[in-house]
Amino acid sequence: MSNVFESNHPLVAHKLTKLRDVNTSPKKFRELVREISALMTYEATTDLAVHPIEVTTPMGDMTGSELTDKIGLVPILRAGLGMVEGVWGLMPNAEVWHIGLYRDERTLKPVEYYNKLPVAPTVKVCLVLDPMLATGGSAVATIDVLKRWGVSRIKFVGLLGAPEGVKLMQANHPEVPIYLAAIDSHLNEIGYIVPGLGDAGDRQFGTG
Ligand code: PRP
Ligand code: URA
Repeated sequence: MSNVFESNHPLVAHKLTKLRDVNTSPKKFRELVREISALMTYEATTDLAVHPIEVTTPMGDMTGSELTDKIGLVPILRAGLGMVEGVWGLMPNAEVWHIGLYRDERTLKPVEYYNKLPVAPTVKVCLVLDPMLATGGSAVATIDVLKRWGVSRIKFVGLLGAPEGVKLMQANHPEVPIYLAAIDSHLNEIGYIVPGLGDAGDRQFGTG
């Protein structure tokens, strides 16, 4: 599975296990989503471009580095919202552009309900944030939107994936790298990841 990064970091594995636990409270769940998102973003951004910049330390001058490209975070509503804070902590100058999609419960196809992107792209690199890559329909639709917007570089950062979702992404957007804390066994008959963690939106927001 080239272009697919599945974390093997012990901190991610430890936190992900707590996230999956049915007894984890919404408060703790949100905290874990935030923390794992930051760890995954660290892994997903190793190839961001930097350029040299002069800096004066208390001891003298040196040439340091500054991020070159304007970065956009694109959380897929609702569940992607919980990832923003963790990622934003690492890159506070990033722009955040929300895309609203929900899965139709019967067809499992994504339905778009919110998109306020301006006509011309304002960022060079987009990190699409969604904890769950299940059928992959929501991620593929979001990346379709970003490509139409004109963004040249896109990465998907998630927490849990199913092989079905990875396959759909690779078929539709083979050049978009996928970063996941884990890839689980399969989807059940109603499109949930097994063993998964249940409904990521409901568990964060205390609904359902
Ligand atoms: C969940 C999740 C993804 C989508 C993944 O959102 O956050 O966006 O399902 O499924 P897919 O890969 O099969 O498209 P959901 O539709 O439940 O909406 P919510 O985030 O508002 O709860
Ligand atoms: N969305 C979720 O929140 N959980 C799943 O397992 C699949 C889609």
